[in-house]
Amino acid sequence: MLRRLHADQPESFAFTPANLKWAEAQITKYPAGRQASAIIPLLWRAQEQEGWLTKPAIEHVADMLGMAYIRALEVATFYFMFQLQPVGSVAHIQICGTTSCMICGAENLYAVCRERIAPTPHTLSADGKFSWEEVECLGACANAPMAQIGKDYYEDLTAESFARILDEFAAGRVPQPGSQTGRYAAEPAAGLTALTAGTEGKAAHNATVTQALKLGDTVKRIDGSEVPVLTPWLGAAKAAAAPAQATRPAPAPAPAAAPSTALAKPAVLAVARGGTADDLKLIKGVGPKLETLLHSLGFFHYDQIADWSAAELAWVDDNLEGFKGRASRDGWVEQAKMLATGAVTEFAARARKEGLYDKDK
Ligand code: FES
Repeated sequence: MLRRLHADQPESFAFTPANLKWAEAQITKYPAGRQASAIIPLLWRAQEQEGWLTKPAIEHVADMLGMAYIRALEVATFYFMFQLQPVGSVAHIQICGTTSCMICGAENLYAVCRERIAPTPHTLSADGKFSWEEVECLGACANAPMAQIGKDYYEDLTAESFARILDEFAAGRVPQPGSQTGRYAAEPAAGLTALTAGTEGKAAHNATVTQALKLGDTVKRIDGSEVPVLTPWLGAAKAAAAPAQATRPAPAPAPAAAPSTALAKPAVLAVARGGTADDLKLIKGVGPKLETLLHSLGFFHYDQIADWSAAELAWVDDNLEGFKGRASRDGWVEQAKMLATGAVTEFAARARKEGLYDKDK
């Protein structure tokens, strides 16, 4: 399935104050230079805020994490959990279309979706309240056919029970999740035939359904107000300062390098010594674009890169427009140290042999 950004995009995106505070706290979970690891929770929170993932939201998250936009787009377009087009204001219905569900009647549920919501998936209903899509197995195969709606599963569905559930949601109510035929869990549809002792007096619903009924938040989106934002990993003293650092993380000192994130501009050259630059593309992670960028910054030789201190590496990382953090991420200094002595890295050997160079992405 092709996953493309929606044709109509909003002008901009900004996290609400509560979501921003939460997002900044998530970034502090990761060591310096690894803030990009926070991308999935941040994209998810942006989607929860807006209902779907807009291009400005993806780029906003990329900016927060010091990532190239294409890296964030790769994540957003890869994972089906991210909705790249507007979804229903009440609920986006995900119907399982894999084997068990299909055998047990998923087509009937699609028919209801086509009739009640929209003829095609990923399309808003006329009132804007619902949208739907077919998804792969959601792991409730014993209770097929089923649908995920918001946070909960609706199982053992028929066209009638599913239509009733849509009516309930449309009326602003949250219908009971779980089996719609009265099954407690995934026992045989005709009832238990073994291990029947001790089942008297059990709760009306299994623990999942009981909790869902208690919370009643099946289709409520996360808005940042759920729980206090806790950052025990920072310790009490640093916790207060954390958000300011996290909004725009200091780029990438090498993992083993320094506790300091200070930036220092390295010594640069106006032109290559002897008029001939080293082939910087033999450094893994440097493609033609980055080589040109490095030249424009005044770096032409392996020994220049090999001499970068942690603070100088941080400066370079911060000045690689569109590629921030790439120098430390790909270990340029370590590679340059080997290349400067005439040794050959595994990548350089392959690149020379196969004419293989990293493409800038
Ligand atoms: S086949 Fe539908 S949940 Fe597994």
